[in-house]
Amino acid sequence: MDKTSVRPIDLDPNFEPVTNPSNNRSFENVLAARMGRRTLMKGSVGAGLASLMGLSLAGCGSDSSSGSAGTPQAQPTLGFRAVPTSSANQIVVPEGYSSTTFVPWGTPISGSYPAYLADGSNTGEDQEQQVGDNHDGMHFFPIDLKQGGNSSTEGLLVMNHEYINPQWLHPDGPTGADLTPVVRPSAEVRKEVAAHGVSVIHIRQQASGSWEVVFGSPFNRRITGQTEMDIRGPVRGSDKVKTRFSPDGTRTRGTLNNCSMGATPWGTYLAAEENWAGYFVNTDSPQPPEHARYGVQDDNGRYYWETADGGEDEYVRFNASQMGATALDDYRNEPNTFGYMVEIDPFTPEVKPQKRTALGRFGHEGVIFAPVTEGEPVVCYSGDDSRFEYIYKFVSDQPYYAATAGGYLLNQGTLYVAVFNDNGSGQWKALKVGEPGLEAWTTQADILLNTRAAADALGATPMDRPEWGAINPKSGEVYFTLTNNSRRAADEVNAANPLGPNPNGHIIRWTEAGNDYAATTFEWDIFVFAGEAGTETVVDGDAVVSLTEDNLFNSPDGLWFDASGRLWIQTDGSDAAPYQNNMMLAADPDTREIKRFLVGPVGCEVTGVTSTPDQKTMFVNIQHPDAFWPDASVERPRCATVIVTKDDGGVIGS
Ligand code: FEO
Ligand code: CA
Ligand code: CA
Repeated sequence: MDKTSVRPIDLDPNFEPVTNPSNNRSFENVLAARMGRRTLMKGSVGAGLASLMGLSLAGCGSDSSSGSAGTPQAQPTLGFRAVPTSSANQIVVPEGYSSTTFVPWGTPISGSYPAYLADGSNTGEDQEQQVGDNHDGMHFFPIDLKQGGNSSTEGLLVMNHEYINPQWLHPDGPTGADLTPVVRPSAEVRKEVAAHGVSVIHIRQQASGSWEVVFGSPFNRRITGQTEMDIRGPVRGSDKVKTRFSPDGTRTRGTLNNCSMGATPWGTYLAAEENWAGYFVNTDSPQPPEHARYGVQDDNGRYYWETADGGEDEYVRFNASQMGATALDDYRNEPNTFGYMVEIDPFTPEVKPQKRTALGRFGHEGVIFAPVTEGEPVVCYSGDDSRFEYIYKFVSDQPYYAATAGGYLLNQGTLYVAVFNDNGSGQWKALKVGEPGLEAWTTQADILLNTRAAADALGATPMDRPEWGAINPKSGEVYFTLTNNSRRAADEVNAANPLGPNPNGHIIRWTEAGNDYAATTFEWDIFVFAGEAGTETVVDGDAVVSLTEDNLFNSPDGLWFDASGRLWIQTDGSDAAPYQNNMMLAADPDTREIKRFLVGPVGCEVTGVTSTPDQKTMFVNIQHPDAFWPDASVERPRCATVIVTKDDGGVIGS
């Protein structure tokens, strides 16, 4: 959907401006480089898709029997019967499974525990104490984690609230956006800001098996678009992040558009800032590159917060136009304090969230940490979800030691960007001062503030919207969803993104050289092409996947490995036939068997999945349902978590 069609309030969750002007996009010679193993996508004949793209994947150990660890591994079983596609306004799970909804938007979790009011009349102050909107990435932290435990009956469920559904957030939808000039009521803006961010929810399983929020727990917390945060890493103190609020450039307020997340090896939570740029307006012409390259608006912010009728400083800051004498007199630098991974310690509520700038500034979808080894660096991966953007890796300077590990490890290190060669090899290129191609930047802070531009200069491979990553706990392979790219032209394909256009997306994976996550080279292949029944993923002439009614899907987005090695795939795509409502599937990474496990209600996106350590309770998030769900008697849809259990008490998916 084009953004212009959804004003005056931008309701489009898939709004993804194309802001990459680099010439990295054109790979006209890609097909000339074919050699070795070939992965092909064949569309279904019935749909008239004859797309046939040859890829060179020389030496990439990734056919149907591969396992990069080199040792035989027990296969994760997919022991359930696949569910059919569904257009019903309900959750569908396999026979032998049950689901129930939990902590929907508006559930009180802190302070005075204000009850949810079904007519949308809760205030902004209420919303600051209630679960936010548009549930997304999520993680279950066992309550005894810091004591070395792994409780499966009590923990902190931490989840992101990516954006808002303004038409349902207020009694009669948002007001003021249709005025000329636009003036939004500050009371509405307060509620909208508060419905963003992160919820930390202390939950406990009852003897009956049901789960409840632990009333009065000191861990229950809302972090919102207004919560004060520290800026850490190389950008801290830079002139480009000094504002009227923080003249020394060390603090900012809020985190926005938190999509996916990552759990650190030391038991904290990183919330991603994805499409944050659209919340800001900068009418200066030209905009500085650290705004323009990210899609900061030139007319109004996404929800017009900058027009709040009270003129409050916390809302004025969304106008990044130069209005004062210096940067210390206005908010020209406010957008430069967004675009990061934000570390939250759910077990230490008194510690402010920390923006970890060393991991780069872009449209972070999420982050996935590699398994850690004593004495080795910490490594994590993050995709920039916008059309033609890149995949990044961070390697810490300091080694990991369990006894002393903490967020400081994320303050210094090397940020790399991925180049996917046509022959199945790949390189990680360092975004560091002094690297060839980066002569335009003289400080690491400048490189990080302009991560996208620096990656352009290094010749990074433009991808089809990198969303979630996941690491196979058995083989060490890294998987990423590439959700779709309707704007990739036929002459803009590259081997890793071989379809132009790419309406349904695919999943790519790679193995680091020597199974060393800190390596600077890797080998990659395509795990599966999404599409309708008949879509084939072909390796060396063999169809290793041929999608059927049991597993057709489009626009893979959420991605997660459970501890047994099942790959869970969540979708955010077209809900037209044959796909119907968005869904979650499970895959065997070795055999590439894929089965549909869950289908969401009408209009939703299925995004966010975690489980208790015993894998017997799974939490799945349902975002932006657009029919009345989960309670049809309340004429207002509510985003919610779904708890899935197996009726025999077994491991989910087994
Ligand atoms: Fe928030 Fe890229 O999905
Ligand atoms: Ca997503
Ligand atoms: Ca998506």
